[in-house]
Amino acid sequence: MSWKDVVMSDKDAKSVMAQNLEAWEQVAPIHARHNQDNLLKAFSDPGFTLLDDVAIGVLKALEVADKDVAQVCCNNGRELICIERLGAANCVGFDGAEGFVEQGRELANAAGSQARFVCCEAHAFPPEYHGTFDIVLITIGVLSWMPDIDRFMASVTRLLRPGGALFIYEHHPILFMFEPGPPKGPIVWELSYFDKSPYLEKDGLDYYGGESYDAKPATSFSHTMAEIIMSGVKSGLRVEDFTEYPTHISNTWYNLESAELGLPMSYTLVFRAPDPAPPLVSRPRGPYLDANANIPLWRHTCSKV
Ligand SMILES: C[S@@+](CC[C@H](N)C(=O)[O-])C[C@H]1O[C@@H](n2cnc3c(N)ncnc32)[C@H](O)[C@@H]1O
Repeated sequence: MSWKDVVMSDKDAKSVMAQNLEAWEQVAPIHARHNQDNLLKAFSDPGFTLLDDVAIGVLKALEVADKDVAQVCCNNGRELICIERLGAANCVGFDGAEGFVEQGRELANAAGSQARFVCCEAHAFPPEYHGTFDIVLITIGVLSWMPDIDRFMASVTRLLRPGGALFIYEHHPILFMFEPGPPKGPIVWELSYFDKSPYLEKDGLDYYGGESYDAKPATSFSHTMAEIIMSGVKSGLRVEDFTEYPTHISNTWYNLESAELGLPMSYTLVFRAPDPAPPLVSRPRGPYLDANANIPLWRHTCSKV
């Protein structure tokens, strides 16, 4: 069952995503207050990386050196800059919040990085980037902002060259069943794994400082592991690797981490685009895009590059 069967019209899905981007825009300067100075200092050391061994292992297996890499919903680009440090060639980060894109440019400057940052909504990548990347990356805390995972994945797939790889490193969707909390905090079993109701975040998005502010609402969505895997398959991709880990990679479920329940806490998923690419007509399409020209009908209003 998809979200539109139960909860939301197409128009509502678009307006929820636009509202979410306003909430991300609002929190961008708050995140910057907690992180940016430290990151600027850290990136001035050419040996600095914040990628963990899992991410580095997968990127090396994908032979990232000399590859053109995109990161979708890249936030402030800190991971992308580290990927460039593994030898990647052209690195482009896409995010829908101008505030984060600006932070990315500032970090790249401090790091001596050539990475570029583009502000755009994730269902409306500028056509000049379609089919131009060997590796597309999605990391921690992205998929749950997408009301329709199939449409999102179809959009992301457009960025890949024939034979390119889509690498997802995310927290495991089973975590959404539980209320996040501090280490040793209570474990509150909140939702069914299969729950499809949109989840309204009222307390804001400052998952770094936990600051209280007059937060704009943000709405997130649960997708099961099967739905995530099948969304790539439906976009014409082949599953190359899928691994689950007991390792906690989010900034929120410390209560589950300390309880050591044996849950899968994160996963890596690598898809491969066919080479040669199948005809575009076989890819899923929806009202988010003009069916003839891949020209977005709806753009988040912010500048490019
Ligand atoms: C949790 S953050 C990703 C964090 C990143 N993995 C990191 O560790 O720095 C999610 C990002 O997705 C972006 N985002 C959310 N919905 C989006 C959309 N519909 N289009 C483009 N960007 C979006 C937000 O602006 C935010 O920067």
